[in-house]
Amino acid sequence: MAYVSATEMMQDAKKRGYAVGHFNLNNLEFIRAFLLAAEEAKSPVILGVSSGTAKYMGGYRAIVGSVKPFIEHLGVTVPVALHVDHGTYEEVLEAIEAGFSSVMFDGSALPFEENLRKSAELVQLCRKKGVSLECEVGGIGGEEDGVTKLGEFADPDECRKMAELGVDMLAAGIGNIHGVYPSDWPGLRFDLLDEISRVTGGVPLVLHGGSQIPAEMIQKAIALGVRKINVNTECQLAFAAAVRSYIEQGKDRVGKGFSPRAMFALAIEAVKSVALEKMQLFGSAGKA
Ligand code: 13P
Repeated sequence: MAYVSATEMMQDAKKRGYAVGHFNLNNLEFIRAFLLAAEEAKSPVILGVSSGTAKYMGGYRAIVGSVKPFIEHLGVTVPVALHVDHGTYEEVLEAIEAGFSSVMFDGSALPFEENLRKSAELVQLCRKKGVSLECEVGGIGGEEDGVTKLGEFADPDECRKMAELGVDMLAAGIGNIHGVYPSDWPGLRFDLLDEISRVTGGVPLVLHGGSQIPAEMIQKAIALGVRKINVNTECQLAFAAAVRSYIEQGKDRVGKGFSPRAMFALAIEAVKSVALEKMQLFGSAGKA
């Protein structure tokens, strides 16, 4: 069965010096696109589920119930992890119960001691359940209520303490942000990434906001210990552009072109292309 936690993926990525793509689900079409891309590229893949997506797609149980049979239906053989993205403590517990193979607990908005305490509890639980765990130190910048903040910076000492708990993956802000990067974005802080990498003893690091980061920055980040890279916005933009082009060309007005399956066919291809491109860039293609 290709449905696995991210633990072994991270170990292999560390050993062979690449990063695994985490691609956010938004709807059923995204599940199809990412599974097809991973199988074609012979790449491991992590499917990310935000709270918003969980609500939209009918809750964690409905998503597990869609993804697992979908893997079998498509005959996918490469490793696939189903991962909670930025979950609260309660959401993480619910998702584990529902059968997610991997979770991210985002306690970054809590006082650090509380974030650390809750993360420590989850390390124990996840180990018992065979689920991989990502935790976060410091926030990730991005667009919130129409205001774009520049990226935040994690404190290396807090990163060290979090890594010492034995988390499988650690997300730490190094100037990365979710969403579209503003034109005045100063770039990733590689000096900080280098320091975090050194003090955390080789724990796989996670780069959020992976859309639109230039290829050479991605490669440098991987060289400094990033093993999981989250991508959502670029896939959403590709999906929207494909749907826009379909409608603008009036294809929905020809024959059965109004059927959602016809309307989304090229959008699925567009999302799949983004994922394939990222799998090449991250070095995960051909590793499964
Ligand atoms: P982007 O939407 O900027 O690609 O970020 C995705 C992400 O980090 C999800 O956690």
